[in-house]
Amino acid sequence: MRPRRRHGLALLVLLAGCGEAGSPAAPSPTPTPALDLEPLRAAARASGRRVGAAVQAGLLRAGPDYAAVAARHFDHVTAEFEMKWGPIERQPGQRSYEAADEIVAFAEAHGMGVKGHALVWHGDSPAWLEGLSIPELRIALEDHIRTTVGRYRGRVFAWDVVNEAIADGRPGLRDTLFLRRLGPGYVAEAFRLAREADPDVLLVYNDYGGEGLGRKSDDVYDLVRGLVEEGAPIGGVGLQMHLDAAGYPSAADIASNMRRLAALGLLVNVSEMDVRVARLPAEGRLEAQRRVYHDVVAVCLAEPGCHAVTFWGFTDRHSWIDSFFGPDDPLLFDESLRAKPAFFGVRDALEGR
Ligand code: XIL
Repeated sequence: MRPRRRHGLALLVLLAGCGEAGSPAAPSPTPTPALDLEPLRAAARASGRRVGAAVQAGLLRAGPDYAAVAARHFDHVTAEFEMKWGPIERQPGQRSYEAADEIVAFAEAHGMGVKGHALVWHGDSPAWLEGLSIPELRIALEDHIRTTVGRYRGRVFAWDVVNEAIADGRPGLRDTLFLRRLGPGYVAEAFRLAREADPDVLLVYNDYGGEGLGRKSDDVYDLVRGLVEEGAPIGGVGLQMHLDAAGYPSAADIASNMRRLAALGLLVNVSEMDVRVARLPAEGRLEAQRRVYHDVVAVCLAEPGCHAVTFWGFTDRHSWIDSFFGPDDPLLFDESLRAKPAFFGVRDALEGR
């Protein structure tokens, strides 16, 4: 949780309320509480798309308002970190699924789907993998995927099987433990293992920085085209969409990228959307953010191959952005769970406006 400017904002409103001595305060627009708004999931259903958000088990447990907003507005959830290999298997063979089970149970109790995230990711894998030989790592990977996918078979509609395997700043695969020890074939192998554990779930490759067109986008495209051509059981691609309103891919480039991925026979989803605004002047940043959310969701609605939009959290009260990029307000609802212009941008796009 980052230190907030709440008091500063309150002071600002107070001062604004003072105005000229005796003059009535200008009515400040009061943002609408999330629970008073028509559910986004209804608009999404009408559009034929899914709309979801990353959630945390601890936050679902701790805050009734957080859980209520998630259940009201989203038709699916994804675990922000509870379904990753690291949190599941801190010690070899000692798997803990309690937190992941909580999220799945919450979803099922509220008629929501679950998008599994993420079976193989260098960003949160157990530390003990480093000490394994090549055969041991292969076995550990097989056991993890088979056990985890098998556990949620029929309860998860999609899995991010491999996450962020493409390198930044240079062509090719990211230099990870999996690549170094298992070779480039680890990607296809992970998909095959997941398919063996669940014959029906949508299997997805997920990455960031390749949402529009460019070198990394081309590398993601080449990777998934190769998987399709070799018959790996990949069914979808997740475009993470962690954007900065100060500079982001054009809607046209995102659309072109979605179209070429769909032409491979793959479903596309916006998998982790948030929109940073801290680099913009305070005046107008929320409107700029609204426009980015609107335009990206509108692209998904315009592209038949795009079937879902998932936000990486839904309230500025809890966003990974604060820890990884610095203080920001990247999501649809403010810290008091009131709708920001971004929410209305998403709603309008879902309603075709
Ligand atoms: C992030 C979570 O939001 C953080 O809470 C955690 O500390 C690190 O991982 N891309 C991904 C996500 O695929 O899994 C990452 O989630 C954000 C970047």
